[in-house]
Amino acid sequence: MGSVAISNIGELTTNDRTLGEGAVGRRHVAGLVIDDGLVAWAGASADTPAADTSIDAEGGAVIPGFVDSHTHLVFAGDRADEFEARMAGVPYDGGGILRTVEATRAASTGSLDRAARRRLAEMRATGTTTVEIKSGYDLSVAGERRLLDVAASLTEEVTWLGAHAVPPEFAARRDEYLRLLTGPMLEGCAPVTRWADAFCDPVAFSVEECRAVLTAAKAAGLGIRVHGNQLGDSGGVELAAELGAASVDHCTFCTASGASLLAECGVVATLLPAAEFSTRTPYADARQLLDAGVTVALATDCNPGTSFVTSMPFVIALAVRELAMTSDEALYAATAGGAAALCRDDVGRLAVGCSADLVVLDAPSASHLAYRPGSSIARTVLRRGEAVASRPS
Ligand code: NIG
Ligand code: FE
Repeated sequence: MGSVAISNIGELTTNDRTLGEGAVGRRHVAGLVIDDGLVAWAGASADTPAADTSIDAEGGAVIPGFVDSHTHLVFAGDRADEFEARMAGVPYDGGGILRTVEATRAASTGSLDRAARRRLAEMRATGTTTVEIKSGYDLSVAGERRLLDVAASLTEEVTWLGAHAVPPEFAARRDEYLRLLTGPMLEGCAPVTRWADAFCDPVAFSVEECRAVLTAAKAAGLGIRVHGNQLGDSGGVELAAELGAASVDHCTFCTASGASLLAECGVVATLLPAAEFSTRTPYADARQLLDAGVTVALATDCNPGTSFVTSMPFVIALAVRELAMTSDEALYAATAGGAAALCRDDVGRLAVGCSADLVVLDAPSASHLAYRPGSSIARTVLRRGEAVASRPS
């Protein structure tokens, strides 16, 4: 694979305190060397060692690739009509999930795979180098396994979300669906998934139901994540803390005591402001979480219902403009925060030995991500040291 030297980096964000200043480990006029897909060196541009190939960043900023730790990338169809209705005042109540289930069940595996790959290519082009992908739009044993197989061909961060909604054929037999989830569906899905998630909300599953599903998943060796407190104070935050979840996602309604609990238990709060944008609902209180000492992650929640968004820079812009996060807090949450939510220490940072997943920006500082919303400023995206997206210089 060989080595690559990047010089003339106007602003380098490493997220490693030993390599630069502050929590984001920042250096100016910097250089970075990649060897065999890993970060091998970072320092002053003038000291950059020679390598097999070189990249001149021409004063552009370099940041770690984005870690999008919450997506529902494998689905068929769209729900633009629901978006239009919401903009006219109809609230989101989760009911549309079953429309996507119907479309997804009817779709061929090839078409699901192609659509997911196109969305992933959009993500790569804006700087995402690690992505988590959930199932949850089939809700049958074989169908959830089919979605997970598609997801597993795209990423190692695969999440089983059988507890996303009760499918129509079980509408009058909820307890039976719960038994399917904790029995045959978990058994069929566990071999190909790293994580289990559950939608903990009155419109989906109760705390008790989510506890049953996630406890069974944990016993099967899976890591735990929770969709919690999206539409109300659902108890998902407390459940995530009780079960030792890696992350509780949404946290749109989180109390001060909930925030303290997350800090105490080391559960990451993954904020999804594009979902609030697309459902026109109040944003999560990021400041409360950060001030309580919670590790915050930012992710797209890419799905056809609440957030048909693939761009992490857009999410960063929302976090800065609407959640009162600083540019550096938002950048950290979209990279190292996402890595923490996935219990990964090899991505989300540009420390020596980490995967060389990075973005060279067409801008002198990372603050341009929020400052210039709507345009992609990713010039070159490297994943494991190899270009996965670049645009004409
Ligand atoms: O994260 N909240 C549950 N799941 C998705 C939305 C799913 C849908 O509406 O299709 C979310 O917002
Ligand atoms: Fe989600």
